[in-house]
Formats: sequence, structure tokens, C-alpha cells
Amino acid sequence: MTNFSERVEQVSISGIREVFEAAGEDAINLGLGQPDFAAPPHAREAAVEAIRDGAADGYTENKGMASLREAIAAKHERDQGLDVDPDDVIATAGGSEALHIALEAHVDAGDEVIIPDPGFVSYDALTRLTGGTPVPVPLREDLTIDPDAIEAAITDDTAAFVVNSPGNPTGAVSPPEDVREFARIADEHDVLCISDEVYEYTVFDGEFRSPMEFAESDNVVVVNSASKLYSMTGWRLGWVTASTPRVERMLRVHQYAQACAAAPSQFAAEAALTGPQDQVAEMTDSFRERRDLVVDGLEKIGLDVPTPGGAFYAMPEVPEGFVDECLDRGVVIVPGEAFGDHGDGYARLSYATDEESLRNALSIMEDAYDAVV
Ligand SMILES: Cc1ncc(COP(=O)(O)O)c(C=O)c1O
Repeated sequence: MTNFSERVEQVSISGIREVFEAAGEDAINLGLGQPDFAAPPHAREAAVEAIRDGAADGYTENKGMASLREAIAAKHERDQGLDVDPDDVIATAGGSEALHIALEAHVDAGDEVIIPDPGFVSYDALTRLTGGTPVPVPLREDLTIDPDAIEAAITDDTAAFVVNSPGNPTGAVSPPEDVREFARIADEHDVLCISDEVYEYTVFDGEFRSPMEFAESDNVVVVNSASKLYSMTGWRLGWVTASTPRVERMLRVHQYAQACAAAPSQFAAEAALTGPQDQVAEMTDSFRERRDLVVDGLEKIGLDVPTPGGAFYAMPEVPEGFVDECLDRGVVIVPGEAFGDHGDGYARLSYATDEESLRNALSIMEDAYDAVV
């Protein structure tokens, strides 16, 4: 008989994959969480050059190349005015591994981790893999995370809470006063705030702020990644930054699970961070136009949708049977319950696809809506 760990038995393959597999080959896919841009040319070039020169053949330092970590520290200085020591950065295999080592280093079996519901699928799964218990907190009507709800959910067993603005699956951007509250809660309750900032650069309304700017204690771990900042999902390069003792604990996990992030990707990410940033603005402008197109289209169909202030997702409330009807008609959207129980009655659609496909999808969704109501 095969004995699997109890922890792994509590986790299943993400519901999002199942939706893709159910859809036909020429379906319009609004299920994918990745920007539809190429990586910046200078990032790709830097990796090619490093490969050609043989500079990317060996292990790097466990934390990642010093020059990359300096570029990451400089990014946080430029964008948040933070004084980050490059030694307090670990380059990871995407934001995914960053979340994993952050949770693994701070959560004991039986500890609770407060997560947004609906929220990014990894928070629940990675918490369970540590042996911890996810404590989902429902969002406000505008789909932002309510600091009061987080504070009310804190118990003696709380190890951490996760915030994510701009958010997946909602696109919601937390206002600065809420971000300040996240920091206060982390300070006052002496509980870790894991701030998932991977959509930092995709903000249309409001502004991006990090709890690390406001915290007076070292109770914030920042997770970020080149994936969505620079349209480099396939390169698998993210990072964590936090205080020296926290980084030292996360490094213990990273060192044994990963050794180091892939060297060619480190060269590419360093170039993306230090090179021209014009692509970031281009991407944001383009996503803003598509956001307007999609929100307008959904409202015309008759769906209620909070206007997403960032990322590239919209999360309308949808009638029963709508998601399946869209799938049957060739438009892939993800049912809200894939992101938590409170996602029930919603659907997530990603508008990181071309405008013509978005228009076609909206027209099909209108027919699907008419068929189910
Ligand atoms: C909120 C959020 N965090 C983290 C990630 C992980 O991204 P990656 O591992 O590609 O950096 C994703 C990817 O979809 C995400 O949506």
C-alpha cells in the first residue's frame, strides 16, 4: 500500500487546470493568469548572452547573484523608498516558491494562517502543506480585504495573515489606509503579514503601497516576482525580502528545496529590473483599456462587477449555470469557488488577451447569460 502524507492528501490540483482541460481547443481562454506580452527584449538578451558566455552554467549563491539582489534592493528603494539590504533578499523560483518558503519558515503544524476568500489558490494549499490551518476571511463587497476582518480573525494560534493587492482573483486594490492598517495589525498583534505584491505594477486606480513602508516591527515579508511585473511568467524568477532573521530561516528552506533560482533567469530578471522600464507603462495602459472594455461589456450584459483597480482580472457576480454555459459555448472563465467558498456565485475572467478575442468572448457571454436567466 502506498502511504502518502496527510498534508499532501489535503491538497488537490488547482480547479483552474480542470477548467482548461474541460474546454475545447479553439475556446477563447479568459482563464489564464499571465500577461500576453513578450518579456522585455533586454531581459531576454541578457539571458542569451549569459548562456553564450557560459556565465549561467553553475550554481549561484543560494540567495541568488549579488548583482540581482542589488537590483531588487534598488527596485524597492526606487518604488517604495525602502532601504533594503541586498543580503535580506532571496531570489526564488517565482512568487510561488517565495510564498512557499515564507509560510514554511513561519508556520507550525496547528498554526492558523488568515487568507483572503476568494484568494489566490496557493495560500490555502501552501498553508496546508506546512500542517497549518487556513482561516479564510471573506472580502468586502468591493472585493478588497477588510483589515477589521483580519484583526477579528486573529487568535493565539495565528502565525500569519496574507494580503494581496492588487489581488488575484479580484483585481481589487487596497487603499493606502488599509495597507497602513495591515502594518499596524502586524505590529500590534505581533503576527506576520505576508504581502503578496506580484501585481504591484498593474494599477489603474488608486496607488500601490506596501505594508513594509508602514510597519514599525519586522513583521512583514514581501513576496514579489518578475512574472507579472515584466511578463516573465515562464522564467520562474521571484523573490522575498524581510528582516535578516526571517530571511535566514527562509533560506534554510530554499537552500534544501531549490539550491538557487535558475541562473539564466537571474540574469534576465536583473536586466529587467535595471534596464528601461517603458514596457511596464505600456502594459499597464493596455490593461487599463482592456479593463474598461470588459467592465463595460459585462455591465451591458447585466452582470454586477466591482471595477477592478489593478491586475488583469475582473470578478463579476454570475447567475447559476453561467460558467458552464460559457464553457459549452467556447469561453473559458474560472468559477469563483475555485478561489474559496466565498467565491461561490462569482467568476474570474482574465482580460490579458487581445481585444478582438475579448469582444468575441463578451458577445458569447451575453448569449450564455440569456440562456441561463
Ligand atoms: C497573487 C499571486 N501570487 C503569486 C503568484 C505566483 O506567480 P509566479 O510564481 O509566477 O511568480 C501568482 C500567479 O498567478 C498570483 O496570482
